[in-house]
Amino acid sequence: MDSAGKIWMDGKLVDWDKANVHIMTHGLHYGGGVFEGIRIYETTRGRAIFRLRDHMMRFLDSAKVIDLNIPYTVDELCEIVKETVRANDPKVDYIRPIAYYGSGTVGLNPIKLPTRLAIACVYMGPYLGTDQQKKGAKVITSSWEKPSNRAAALNAKICGNYINSVLARLEAVKRGADEAIMLNADGNVAEGTGENIFMIKSEKIFTPGMASGILRGITRDSVMQLASDLGYHVEERDITRSELYVADEVFMTGTAAEIMPIVEIDSKKIGSGEPGPITLKLQKAFSEVTRGTNAKYLSWLDFIG
Ligand SMILES: Cc1ncc(COP(=O)(O)O)c(C=O)c1O
Repeated sequence: MDSAGKIWMDGKLVDWDKANVHIMTHGLHYGGGVFEGIRIYETTRGRAIFRLRDHMMRFLDSAKVIDLNIPYTVDELCEIVKETVRANDPKVDYIRPIAYYGSGTVGLNPIKLPTRLAIACVYMGPYLGTDQQKKGAKVITSSWEKPSNRAAALNAKICGNYINSVLARLEAVKRGADEAIMLNADGNVAEGTGENIFMIKSEKIFTPGMASGILRGITRDSVMQLASDLGYHVEERDITRSELYVADEVFMTGTAAEIMPIVEIDSKKIGSGEPGPITLKLQKAFSEVTRGTNAKYLSWLDFIG
């Protein structure tokens, strides 16, 4: 992680080491905050932020779910993000906006607490590893269940929601896997710890719908549009764990993981055990979009200038 950059914090750019929070911060104790993860890509026309406006809209929607007042419009937030990126090293490739309830009470009720807002930039590189990006990742089904939509607001990127993902990710790492898949209370596939999941069977593409207990991923949406453009049938429906085992191809999508082929689940080889042809086609289509060489999706790129 780049530790020499500037962080935009509550109205001004501060040095990395000065971007500190009070120990009684509500967001720290109870997870009362919301965040985003956004990629910066090197395109043929210079650096660009991928789907910035969509991320900022989701950020405001997430805040609405926990009644956190963010006193900025989408356009203002986009400008603040761009200002922060410009103030940092050109090598940074990932942006982390976070808004949270500040300090003022030890109780759970956050309603009178101030909103704090920060934007940080780091160098992330390939999230699950360069090798995995090319050869595919090995995943496990986590023993931790994804909370239901009755137990948590899963369409919102709320800090406190992520302890479930942290538990599953720890389990994956301890079992020597790259990532974990979580099942919901019905036993159906929900998503990865920070990724959505897709399955390909007989040239058709399937992914769980919102009722499965997932975040509406922006990469997921991009892939669904690109797959339709390529003429594939794309369908949201329930997927069982054993359907994944016998799928032709499986891949995960996320801002951090991008399009990650999955070649092994619970020690079972998926398809040929190598990234499949449709996954590779989608990876290529996605990288054309993020490199700015697909004219149709240029509006998804916010050039930093
Ligand atoms: C739980 C979860 N699911 C899915 C995703 C993928 O979403 P996106 O493609 O918008 O990054 C993320 C990452 O933001 C996530 O944290």
